[in-house]
Order: sequence, then structure tokens, then C-alpha cells
Amino acid sequence: MKFPRMVEIIPPGKKNNWRVEHFGLSEEEAHMLAVRDIANPERLTKEWTPPGMYARLMCDHTVWMTDTNTERTTHQYWMGQAHGHVMVGGLGLGMCVCGLLEKPEVTEVTVVELHQEVIDLVKPHLNKVAQRYKKPLYILYGDVNIYQPNAVFDCIWLDIWPTICADNLDQMDMLIERYDKYLRCGSAGPYCSWVKCWSQDELYPDEQDPDIVDLCNKCGANVYEDDDYYIDNGLVVCAECKECLDD
Ligand SMILES: C[S@@+](CC[C@H](N)C(=O)[O-])C[C@H]1O[C@@H](n2cnc3c(N)ncnc32)[C@H](O)[C@@H]1O
Repeated sequence: MKFPRMVEIIPPGKKNNWRVEHFGLSEEEAHMLAVRDIANPERLTKEWTPPGMYARLMCDHTVWMTDTNTERTTHQYWMGQAHGHVMVGGLGLGMCVCGLLEKPEVTEVTVVELHQEVIDLVKPHLNKVAQRYKKPLYILYGDVNIYQPNAVFDCIWLDIWPTICADNLDQMDMLIERYDKYLRCGSAGPYCSWVKCWSQDELYPDEQDPDIVDLCNKCGANVYEDDDYYIDNGLVVCAECKECLDD
């Protein structure tokens, strides 16, 4: 799964209190960033971002998104599983949208974004990426907490939080329940549909629930000891996905 360098796609800009900035990460700052990552107990994955130029989305003093390796890694797995019509909650810098558009398995992308300023700063540049890959891209102004899709999706990725924090778990659970009904039933070919929230896997380490065997490798659902599940090439697959694969 590849994400582009966002400094090559989104230029610096400002709309009210929202800004896209390009910034340089020096050798010393790269080490500081790695140390902060190691020290954060809520992060299971530790990352090294090499020195260089990066982009960030800011609102006042809050950093909402960067394209450093921490962000790339936390998007890597689920964006790698994405296919068909993908809904994305939270536009940010559009990094994951660029990665999705490049994937042959992804046919169209719908984004729901709460802040018009973010849309104004990012959308014109993402439209060019979508044109390059000849794929439909819809960027809608809305709130994922109340948005009522008039379509079903193969995959839904919700990333509306500026930081990885256990306080977000309740909202994640609520959103997953809300969006489950907007998933296409019996997805095509070897793929299963899923709804996931950014950083959710990091915040639910297995040891929190000793009965969890693993996450299903196809849809990401928790698989419990008492559930029916299968091992496919050494990976856990839940009963529902197994049925879907067998069809
Ligand atoms: C962390 S950024 C998303 C980063 C994105 N995944 C990327 O690859 O660049 C979060 C985005 O969610 C938006 N957002 C926050 N709350 C939202 C909500 N309730 N509905 C839709 N978008 C929301 C923010 O304005 C921000 O653009």
C-alpha cells in the first residue's frame, strides 16, 4: 500500500483558522519524534520518520494530520484491505484518499468532511488525482455522526480524530454500529466488506479481553474463543467471512 508525499499534491494554504503547511523535519527532530512515539503508552506501533519535507493540516494550534510515517503506518493495514466503493469519514490531507485512488481494487471513493475549510483547501488537488486514475471521487460536506448515505459501500474508514486516545473508543463503537447497515452484503470475489476506525486496533490490544482469539483477517471483527472460526493460511477468518468466501 503506497501513500504519496503530500507536499507534492497539496500546496500550503489557509482558510479561516485551518491551514495546510509544509514543514521540514531535521535529523534531530526526527529522533525527538521517535522518542515521543516510544514514550506514548497508547501506541503499540513505534515508527521512525526520516528527515525531509512533510505536509500537515492544522486548526489553530492543533495538528490534525501529517503525512509522517506514524500516520502512514496507522493507515497501512486497512487501506491495504480496501476495495470497491470506499467511504471515508474525515478528509484531512486526503492522504488515504490518494492511496485508495491508486489501488486497482478500489473503484470509487466517497468522503464526508465536517469542515468546509478543509474541503476548500484539499478537494481541488484531490480532484486532479482522481482524474489521473479516472475514478469517481465525491467529497461531501457533512458530519459522520448524522450523515445518511443513499448508497452502500464495500468498505468504510472513519478517521475523524486528531490523536490516538482511548477516550475515542465509545464514539468508535457507536459509529461502527451506525455504519454497519451501510455495508454491501456479500461483497464481491475474495473480498469482504468492513467498517473500521483509525487507530482502533491499537486501542484494543488483545490483552484487554482474554477471550479474543484474534481479529478476523478479512473483516477485522473480534473473534472470540466460543465463536466458529477458521484458519486460512495461518490467519484467523470469522465464520461470516468464511461463508462469504465460499459463495
Ligand atoms: C485526522 S484527519 C483525517 C486524515 C485522513 N485520513 C488523511 O488521510 O489525510 C480528521 C478529519 O476529520 C474531520 N472531521 C472531524 N470530525 C468530523 C465529523 N464528525 N464528520 C466528518 N469529518 C470530521 C476533520 O475536519 C479532519 O479533516
